[in-house]
Amino acid sequence: MPTQLTSHYRHAGHLIKERRFIHLADRLLKECGVSDHALSVLLVHDAEIAQINRQYRNKNQPTNVLSFPFGDGADASLASLPIKELGDIIISVDTAHREAILYRQPFKDRMSWLLIHGLLHLLGYDHERSASEEKKMLAREQELLSKINNYRRTTMTRLAINVDHIATIRQARAINEPDPVAAAAICELAGASGIVVHLREDRRHIQDRDVILLCQTIKTKLNLEMGANKDIVAIALDIKPDLITLVPEKREELTTEGGLDIISQTKKIAKVIEKMAKASIPVSLFLDPDLKQLAVAKEIGATFVELHTGRYCDSVNEAMCEHEYDLLAAAAEEGDRLGLRMCAGHGLNYHNTGPIAALDTIEELSIGHAIIARSVFTGLDKAVRDMLAIVRQADMLF
Ligand code: PXP
Repeated sequence: MPTQLTSHYRHAGHLIKERRFIHLADRLLKECGVSDHALSVLLVHDAEIAQINRQYRNKNQPTNVLSFPFGDGADASLASLPIKELGDIIISVDTAHREAILYRQPFKDRMSWLLIHGLLHLLGYDHERSASEEKKMLAREQELLSKINNYRRTTMTRLAINVDHIATIRQARAINEPDPVAAAAICELAGASGIVVHLREDRRHIQDRDVILLCQTIKTKLNLEMGANKDIVAIALDIKPDLITLVPEKREELTTEGGLDIISQTKKIAKVIEKMAKASIPVSLFLDPDLKQLAVAKEIGATFVELHTGRYCDSVNEAMCEHEYDLLAAAAEEGDRLGLRMCAGHGLNYHNTGPIAALDTIEELSIGHAIIARSVFTGLDKAVRDMLAIVRQADMLF
């Protein structure tokens, strides 16, 4: 990753999603044609930026952003090193916060602007040089800002809830309660944007009757998860959910274990997409964050891709978690660039959902187990609202 973010700001985590910030900086480097260069960003308090301002610019006061091009003022031999470094941007989060209030701007917009402003300085723009330079820099700032503002497809990440587990409890007794149809209504009332059910070949939880009733009663959107199996395809075409998600399905698995491999079965999946298209049912493909799979998804006409977050959620240490997160972030961005609508799910819970919800290109999350598990203790309404609060908080942050 070309951008290195360091924070000396004590509570940066409350205001800034680090990975999202890095992601934005990397995108800006790409937009400016310097993605092969490294950039260092330091977040500080007013006291530290004031001290740097004093030391290097003879100005005894805090400021919002400072830029130091690589090699500037240092040993001239550094500039000839074969390292492509842009330099350092130092942002005072205290000042950014104050300015956001002063200019009635969302904090994240202020931070974006400061990052762009600092980056343009590193690229040689300087508004202090002349009026025409100022105009040029302002225009480029506006251009980059509008590019990143256009990036998010929706203002809010949507939360779709998988109610399979409600049916699992019902099937344990093979009676008629608890009813996933009632659960779906509670989820919708609590603010969910959609309901997901997986009609498995072995009917271990969701039954045909559930899908039919859900289709008739849901006010938001029913996403039917299914294998690309002939009988289930026929049921989907008959019931007409709002969309289907094709997943790999193995009888012996506890839950969907990996993403669908559409490279080894391109024709079969393309055929299902074609049949659904004739019935105006959009198709989502549940894929691992693999760019080759995404390219095929685009080629065969998928509308959505749901990225499998399982490996990210199951990470056993920070390095693995970061690696898996970076794969998801890159896949989400590439899918979006290809024109696919990007979603994510599997294994997301109250601790690991925030960073995924914060990805600009992810428009919907599909979550089941964590919410239904919590609902046993808190009630379903509260379990849904608690998760929505996490998703919305991630949306609000930088
Ligand atoms: N997305 C897909 C495609 C799934 O198969 C599942 C599990 O049914 C989920 C999301 C939800 O996963 P979890 O229950 O772990 O939240």
